[in-house]
Formats: sequence, structure tokens, C-alpha cells
Amino acid sequence: MKAEILSLLRENKDYISGQELCEHFHVTRTAVWKAVNQLKKEGYPIEAVQNRGYRLASEPDVFGRAELESRIHTKWAGRHIAFYESVGSTNVTAKLLAEEDAPAGTLVVAESQTAGRGRRGRGWVSPPGHNLYFTLLLRPQINPDKASMLTLVMALAVKEGMEEACNVQAGIKWPNDIVLNGRKVTGILTEMSLQGEYIQHVVIGVGINVKKQEFAPELAEKATSLEAELGRSISRALLLERVMERFEEDYALFMEKQDMSLLLTAYNAALVNCGKQVQVLEPAGEYAGTARGINEKGELLVLDSANNLQKVFAGEVSVRGIYGYV
Ligand code: BTN
Repeated sequence: MKAEILSLLRENKDYISGQELCEHFHVTRTAVWKAVNQLKKEGYPIEAVQNRGYRLASEPDVFGRAELESRIHTKWAGRHIAFYESVGSTNVTAKLLAEEDAPAGTLVVAESQTAGRGRRGRGWVSPPGHNLYFTLLLRPQINPDKASMLTLVMALAVKEGMEEACNVQAGIKWPNDIVLNGRKVTGILTEMSLQGEYIQHVVIGVGINVKKQEFAPELAEKATSLEAELGRSISRALLLERVMERFEEDYALFMEKQDMSLLLTAYNAALVNCGKQVQVLEPAGEYAGTARGINEKGELLVLDSANNLQKVFAGEVSVRGIYGYV
């Protein structure tokens, strides 16, 4: 009920009477009063005026379950929220919830992580108060070899969500880093669980650097945050709301063809590697070439020095810019 009261207060710029809220939720005045008091404790400036009712005086930057539930009005993506002040890793929690039959679209969000996971066995430093750490649980009925494309779908959704919520033009570094002014602002880690030949579930974990912060020396050159680049404050809740909306739409387009064909133009337009010299690092060796964009399978097309168009598959390969991170 807390989240719904919040939605109603946000939609209604004027006072809503206690009576109206009681009738809406079929509860007593005391129950409404208790919920409003909890919201106040969580940081919402709710004015209560006798004979008029309740009003949200301003939009505070509160980040929590009620805030997210009051904002996310998608059909399924992010409709079940598990919010934690601190977890080891939202990906690990999402996998545990998946084992307990949590539905597709469950969104695990944490204020901080104590064992955040990055790609290639690296960690993801996750202090509280700064950033977004979330994992979306999916149960796609697709061939497992197509699951890696879901990372690209999320990268596109994050890029689009950022554009809407923060009014900023971000880029994608293939396959799934989001980049602002040549520096990484978001990382994505997708993990899949199989049962025989079938996908049991897929979890897509996203870490977005939002607040200005000190990065470890080895990251300082290549990492950034939204607020450091934009010089203004960003609402984490609004950003997550928009990412869920965009993901739901992009995922539907992906599932229609079970490949990237309907998202190809948008993804390639966002690709910062496009037309750039890249170094492809494969387990068998490395070579340089010019990135030409992705194909419908999500592979990066790279024109090598012998003028052969190589198809680079995301799994084992890493692609670096010749002159820096991008
Ligand atoms: C990368 O190395 O670029 C991927 C980083 C992914 C970090 C996110 S934060 C939320 C989710 N939970 C994790 O443990 N990792 C992902």
C-alpha cells in the first residue's frame, strides 16, 4: 500500500483526503496514517493538513522498495522487487530467488554489495549511497547459445534509459559496457543456469556509476560516473524505472526474432567502436582490425588487415581500442 499511496500522491499535485485513501484501499484511517508515517520516516516530505488531507511537498531523492514500486509500471520487468540495504551480490541473490521459483521479471536491487561480481572473475566495488546495483531475472525459452545476446539487449536498454532519465548521449562499447566521454559508466554481467539443454534462468546484473566518487587507481583513467560527467544530481530511481521500461520493449523485439535483427540499427548507432581500430584478443591469439558494427547474432564484425571480415563472438574474446579504452 505504501508504494501505491506514493504513486497517488505523486500523480496528485493537490491534497488527497484521508477518506479518499481509505476508500481507495479499503482500509481504516489508522492504516493510512501508519503507512504515511512510514513514508515520512523513509524521507518523504508528506504534509498532513486537517480537513484537506495529505500532499507530497517535493520529490526527494529517496531510493528504496516503495519508491521503485511506485514508479515501475511495466507489464513484467521489475514488477517484483527484492530490495536489500546490503547483499553479497545481486546476481547471486537473484539466482537463489530463481531456485525458489521467483517469477521472470523479478528485480533484485541493493544499496550496496559486499562481494559485487564483475566480468572475467573480477570484482565490482559497490559502496552504498553512490550507485545502482541491480539484477533482472529472466526465464527465456530460447536456445542457450542465444543467451549472450541478452547482455546486448540490456546494454541498449541502459543506454536508452540513461538518455531519457538523464538527458545524456551515452555510447556502447561492444559487447556491453556503457560509455560516457570515452569512459566506462556501466558494467553488465549475465549468468545463465541450464537444466540439461534448456535454460532454467538467466540473470542480468547491472552496475551503474551514478554519484561522483573516487575510483581505484587502476580504474581512474577509464571509469567515470553520471554525476561526474554531467555535473548535476541524478535520481537513481528514475533511471532504474526508465531502464526497466526500455528493457521490456527491447526484450520483446529480441524475442520476436530471437536475435538482434530488430535492434540492430539502434545498437549499431550507439556503438562507440564503430569505424574504430580495435585489437581483438582471442584465446588463440590477437589481431587488429576495424570494427564495422554487429550482425543479427550480436557478433562484432571486424575487418582485419587482410581485408577479411571476421565475426567476433562475445564469450571468450575481449576487444580493446588501439589508442585507449574505447
Ligand atoms: C563488468 O565487469 O563490467 C560487469 C560488472 C557488473 C556489476 C553488476 S553490479 C550488480 C550485479 N551484481 C553483481 O555482483 N554484479 C553485477
